[in-house]
Amino acid sequence: MDARGQNRSKKSQEVIAIGSDHGGWELKEHLKVFLRKEGFHVEDFGCLTSESFDYPEIGINLSRDISNGKFGRGILICGTGIGMSIVANRFPGVRAALCNDIYTARMSREHNNANVLVLGGRVLGKGIAEEITNVWLNTHYCDPSGRHDRRLDQILKLEKEIMKRK
Ligand code: RB5
Repeated sequence: MDARGQNRSKKSQEVIAIGSDHGGWELKEHLKVFLRKEGFHVEDFGCLTSESFDYPEIGINLSRDISNGKFGRGILICGTGIGMSIVANRFPGVRAALCNDIYTARMSREHNNANVLVLGGRVLGKGIAEEITNVWLNTHYCDPSGRHDRRLDQILKLEKEIMKRK
């Protein structure tokens, strides 16, 4: 605890799950260093080299572990971010947001309570990707009016309906 009574060690305890295909590998490696410097722990879901690797496999493994609660938040990166977004948003409880700008990153946390940040490794430079990641990680879901909770509940209801049909 610091002088204001805030628990400053909280961030350093958070594990961020991260994964990419070959199109996002370079940015993933860069962001791993950045995240550790910022005090986060990192769980790397691969891929492990710049060799071609199908994005669904990585996206599925990471999103499954967000969906089942093993990790609270994750970052997925492919060339455009589109493939990873499509995969991640198939999992109940996963709210993946493709953010290639800072405003979207902030809104995805404040309004959508996004728990997976998706980035386009071939779209973003490393500097802007760091800023987007930083804003996304440090912005809190914020719903004084209750309207965002209401909308997220509608999505939850839909997920339950779909699961019942299976
Ligand atoms: C791989 O070439 C590329 O298709 C992939 O990284 C991603 O952009 C898919 O959405």
